[in-house]
Amino acid sequence: MNRAARATIDSSALRANLAAVRRAAPDSRVMAVIKANAYGHGIVPVARALKEADAFGVARMEEAAAIRGAGMHGRVILLEGVFHAEQLELAASLDAELVVHSPEQLEMLEQYPGEHRFRTWLKVDTGMNRLGFPPAGARDVSRRLQSCTAVDDAPRLMTHLARADATADHATVDQIRSFTDATGDLQGSRSIANSAGILAWPDSHADWVRPGIMLYGVSPFEDRTGPELGLQPVMTLASELIAVKMVAAGQAVGYGGAWTASSPTLIGVAAIGYGDGYTRHLGSGAPVMVGGQMARLIGRISMDLATIDLGDIKDAKVGDEVLLWGPELPVEKLARAAGTIPYELLCGVTQRVAMRVE
Ligand SMILES: Cc1ncc(COP(=O)(O)O)c(C=O)c1O
Repeated sequence: MNRAARATIDSSALRANLAAVRRAAPDSRVMAVIKANAYGHGIVPVARALKEADAFGVARMEEAAAIRGAGMHGRVILLEGVFHAEQLELAASLDAELVVHSPEQLEMLEQYPGEHRFRTWLKVDTGMNRLGFPPAGARDVSRRLQSCTAVDDAPRLMTHLARADATADHATVDQIRSFTDATGDLQGSRSIANSAGILAWPDSHADWVRPGIMLYGVSPFEDRTGPELGLQPVMTLASELIAVKMVAAGQAVGYGGAWTASSPTLIGVAAIGYGDGYTRHLGSGAPVMVGGQMARLIGRISMDLATIDLGDIKDAKVGDEVLLWGPELPVEKLARAAGTIPYELLCGVTQRVAMRVE
């Protein structure tokens, strides 16, 4: 591999995390959520590694197409359905299942002139207030879908949890109750839980769970890391030092001179920057590892480079490995330092980073 910045994807960790999902929700089928390029991990290799999942959940037609293009014929669900009626034919040709969350989507299906019979998932909005039908309308929508010739059968029923990561918050209990009340004796299997639901809310498990972040070995909770939950981080983001130098006391480093040496300091320059998805919101003090030892970022991250206080790593040299996140340095810690969530850091890894699947 001749690119400095590289992401290594550990397929055995993916499989171990899928096994952790099954242990946590033993009576549920698993829809592995691999949208957004499998949270930045690469949709095709992740789908291959997770071929034992019962279905895949994606957000865009191109993601469904990528799975089919790679020769995988299992169940694929478009978690937001189609956005325009013209997409129905493509969804049909990909044999993608449709979430139906709006009156517009319902009408598109009712007016669909084609031969295909879609599997559908009726989404009920129980408190996220984003996508979905109001609970009071679920029964009527279910009836309309069942009598629609473009639909194969009774729709499956789903909702999405807004605050399952807040384990002391009553909102999840309220959402589960609202979903149960709204769907009552309707036919069709049910799905509620994301990763936080799987790990913290057994009452949300239902017939299908929909794990995303935990499959990648990352915690959905702010105060715990994936390894602390028994998960194995899948992505290691690394690069290397391309310069090592002494900076005199009083010298400022990088754009804006955002960090000034208070004493002579050995610094390293790593080939990683926001052009690789290593966010500029990480500032001085954020953790990084050089040659297996902990160090701290200094100054501003630029497009291609990040500067590091090598502190006591006196023997650091050009070519040494720089670990940005991975099993030894949980991405959750970086997310906290950057004031964001690990989801965003993982999805943000750019095309310039070389991906290797192990
Ligand atoms: C509808 C739906 N279900 C499940 C998930 C998976 O969530 P998580 O990554 O928190 O497990 C997502 C992700 O945002 C989603 O949009």
